[in-house]
Amino acid sequence: MSERSRVAILISGRGSNMAALIYAARAADCAYEVVLVTGDRPDAPGLDLADAEGIPTARFPRPAAKDKSQFFEALTEALEAEQVDLIALAGFMRIIPADFVEGWRGRILNIHPSLLPKYKGVGTHEAVLGARETSTGASVHLVSNELDSGEVLGQVEVAVLPGDDPKTLAERVLIAEHQLYPRILSEYAARPFNSEWIEGQVDGLARQLPEVGRKTSHGSPGWSVGGEKGKLFAIIANHHHGEDAVGLLIKASGPDEMTGLIEAQPDVYYWPKYYGASGWLGVKLNRRDVDWGQVRDWLERSWRACAPPRLTKLMRAADEF
Ligand code: GAR
Repeated sequence: MSERSRVAILISGRGSNMAALIYAARAADCAYEVVLVTGDRPDAPGLDLADAEGIPTARFPRPAAKDKSQFFEALTEALEAEQVDLIALAGFMRIIPADFVEGWRGRILNIHPSLLPKYKGVGTHEAVLGARETSTGASVHLVSNELDSGEVLGQVEVAVLPGDDPKTLAERVLIAEHQLYPRILSEYAARPFNSEWIEGQVDGLARQLPEVGRKTSHGSPGWSVGGEKGKLFAIIANHHHGEDAVGLLIKASGPDEMTGLIEAQPDVYYWPKYYGASGWLGVKLNRRDVDWGQVRDWLERSWRACAPPRLTKLMRAADEF
């Protein structure tokens, strides 16, 4: 596995989910490490526990009711100083400003004590009991600019018992939260390096192009254009011949372009082994910061280079339109 993702946990109170995340990170196969615990309350009990466990903490003054920008600026500085990859909200009871969420898009996770999209916001357990639900649960989701509405990454179901009150139900859901959050956070942290996930992403993008089919090339997954006997325009080289890359191979214009790109961005581009001067350029995809828009552009370029004239003619007509 590649290096662990650096996680900051944001809390407002007790921090039992924080503790679950910290202890899970002590397992050797956990894909993240906790590098910072902070939040909007300098007196949050969870911070004392993090201190005792030797995790760096930052205690900021409570954000002013009118102007929270100072708090989020200080927070940004602390996150950058610790080179944080992912933020895990764990009982962080504050709405995060839109520009902050945008800057960290896809990198903030939250846990919510319901089976989202049901029972967003506060008063969850009261609402569940009021609606006479027979089961509820917890969800881990990505944070978007709509309250409790980002992509759900994982859920766990919890039965409602006949005698439950909001407190007993919350306690049982919390046990489930503690199981769920570390597992989902670790999976999410490992995702950029997971070759099945990478292949799924490429497949989704490649299939948006006309007349694309799957084809294997010497055992590697590939995509071709133009039917049964179509030409390969993309291949995934998964640690091919000992390379450390899970790479996407696409057709560049030639060795000059390839040399230029590889020299300028050696972390992104590489010469795939044994493909020699065949014009296949490697784009390393097992990275945290893949620009999937750029991958889509490469797939389209390579598709154009390989598609039969009857298809490229159509594309050119569409370009001019
Ligand atoms: C948890 O139950 C968490 O799901 C909930 O606050 C509690 C925090 O407890 N979060 C929300 O309701 C977010 N909308 P903890 O501090 O012991 O982890």
